[in-house]
Amino acid sequence: MKIAVLHGQLHKGSTYHITHMFLDKLNCAKEDTSEFYVNHINSCVGCFQCVMKGEDTCPHRSQIEEMITAIEAADVIIIDSPTYVLSMSGQLKTFFDHMGYRYISHRPHPSMKKKIGVAISTTAGAGADKTTKQIASQMFWWSVGKIYRFPVTVAAMNWNEMSEKRKTKAERKAARLAKAIQHKHGRVKPGIKARFMFFIMKQMHKDMDYSPLDMKFWKDQGWI
Ligand SMILES: Cc1cc2nc3c(=O)[nH]c(=O)nc-3n(C[C@H](O)[C@H](O)[C@H](O)COP(=O)(O)O)c2cc1C
Repeated sequence: MKIAVLHGQLHKGSTYHITHMFLDKLNCAKEDTSEFYVNHINSCVGCFQCVMKGEDTCPHRSQIEEMITAIEAADVIIIDSPTYVLSMSGQLKTFFDHMGYRYISHRPHPSMKKKIGVAISTTAGAGADKTTKQIASQMFWWSVGKIYRFPVTVAAMNWNEMSEKRKTKAERKAARLAKAIQHKHGRVKPGIKARFMFFIMKQMHKDMDYSPLDMKFWKDQGWI
């Protein structure tokens, strides 16, 4: 099982440790796991070049290419972020902005529908549920076939302050999630919402030629 991990923060706090707790439960070979941080990525400049002319024309392509290649080669995509003001970190959102061309409305990677996504967030008190929903939603729009969420309330400002009781509870949850994913691996089928969305997009690409590149992509895949 190949795993790509994207950390929405550079520091190794509660979020990083919860993600690693979960990785330990998944028990995959080190060489099958690639980890990335998103902090160095410049903000999207809104040039639309990725959509209209191709992703290689993005002025920041060299900052994101390696992680996108790993995501597209992975069976499981894990994305984490601390909850900041009831949302994901700004740097993670910046990464997601650069993935707009991979939305189902443009050029979703054909392998995505067989993949498993995991959205992880920690919060001191409130918001991790919302943050994992936001991360999961991004993966849904990439066409990821099955997405799990793992929100954790740590009641702390850092990993050392998190109580043993809460750590044990999180560990049990991580173990259950890992088991579910091991079972699901190789059996992912997109749900009804994803299939409906694909149908709508198919009609759109048949009828509208707003991006010749997108239309060609859908034709090349044999989808229209
Ligand atoms: C800028 C900032 C914003 C935060 N916003 C919230 C928040 O909206 N709700 C909350 O309960 N905790 C909030 N927190 C606390 C963190 O979500 C919490 O401590 C989290 O576990 C930090 O993860 P980390 O150790 O990986 O950085 C915030 C912390 C920071 C630094």
